[in-house]
Amino acid sequence: MDERLQAWTDDGGDHRATGLFRTAFEVGPDGVWAAPGRVNVIGEHLDYNAGPCLPIALPHRTYVAMRRRPDDEIRLVSAMDPAAVWRGSIDSLGPGKVTGWAAYAAGVAWSLGEQGCPTGGFDAAVASCVPVGAGLSSSAALECAVALGLSDCFALGLAAEDAGRRRLVAAAVRAENEVAGAPTGGMDQAASLRTREGHALLLDSRDQSIRQVPFDLANEGLRLLVMDTQVAHALVDGQYAARRAACERAASLLGVPSLREVTDLDDALGRLPAQLRARVRHVVSEIARVGDFVALLEQGRLRDTGGLLDASHASLRDDYEVSCPELDLAVAAASSAGALGARMTGGGFGGSAVALVEAGAVGPVTSAVAAAFAARGWTAPRCFEATAGAPGGRVR
Ligand code: GLA
Repeated sequence: MDERLQAWTDDGGDHRATGLFRTAFEVGPDGVWAAPGRVNVIGEHLDYNAGPCLPIALPHRTYVAMRRRPDDEIRLVSAMDPAAVWRGSIDSLGPGKVTGWAAYAAGVAWSLGEQGCPTGGFDAAVASCVPVGAGLSSSAALECAVALGLSDCFALGLAAEDAGRRRLVAAAVRAENEVAGAPTGGMDQAASLRTREGHALLLDSRDQSIRQVPFDLANEGLRLLVMDTQVAHALVDGQYAARRAACERAASLLGVPSLREVTDLDDALGRLPAQLRARVRHVVSEIARVGDFVALLEQGRLRDTGGLLDASHASLRDDYEVSCPELDLAVAAASSAGALGARMTGGGFGGSAVALVEAGAVGPVTSAVAAAFAARGWTAPRCFEATAGAPGGRVR
């Protein structure tokens, strides 16, 4: 386990965010809120296809100390650059108006306002142990922690029940899509706010309905190893948007509202131009894999899911073409060293892979992956064990 990837305790996160707040703004905050990053177990690139996915919340959380202001001003500070305070106002927010990390944070106040839940000005200090740029949804963790803080500071009452949390998720997604300009699908924010500890979240993006599926790795003597390749990926660049556009075009050519509605894959493939066929094959086959995975999970057969993880990776690599050599190597090396199954997780083009391994095999698998990377002259992935953590909430 890489020390830098150790999740903080809530006390530790509270302490850091509150300390930063006091230093920057010379008063104490009204409270501290936290929201987690995620790993998706299976169901990749399905959220924007109205399909299912199965993320767990990580124990790694982003902490936001916040204080309501009597005016419309907004001040933000991050532990990553404590000397740089971002300043704006409620009126200065909106699509194309904010750049950098503030778009994800302040953008949520804009989208809540658009949804009929206006806030006012606020000061916020952010400290996070969610690895950044690792495909573990540090952006969603930030948006969701801010959303929780705004809900409480402005008495919106959206955090107590799932119905309110759905609205916070929607606001966080809008901030990411419209203010930050990343056309992502919504899985990450749902994972951050709608999961339950010890469970994986079966999210159906067709109607945003959820089911909590027990996900107790330790009970079965298993571990989920996260391998952060540390290869940069940027969802704001064109590849993610291009995949999404290809799916929308395929659905439109097939005359269905989304690829979720494709029931006869062979028939669909026969009606599509060659360049769209592999994309659709990934989406339709991945939807089936999520169903198979959840069925095994509910029968207490987590150990038998490895083949589905492997098949998911092959599909993302060969048909959807969102993997990269580092992810492929991490997956192949983990499998050769005895992992039950492995796959890239998240958007791809870098970021992290996950491997399902026997508890006793974590060390050997981690070493084998490091050795395979060393043989290519590449830096070894940073590895840690993921457990299904708690959803975001108020810490203090
Ligand atoms: C990124 C996006 C999600 C989802 C995944 C792929 O994490 O933020 O919305 O589309 O990629 O499953």
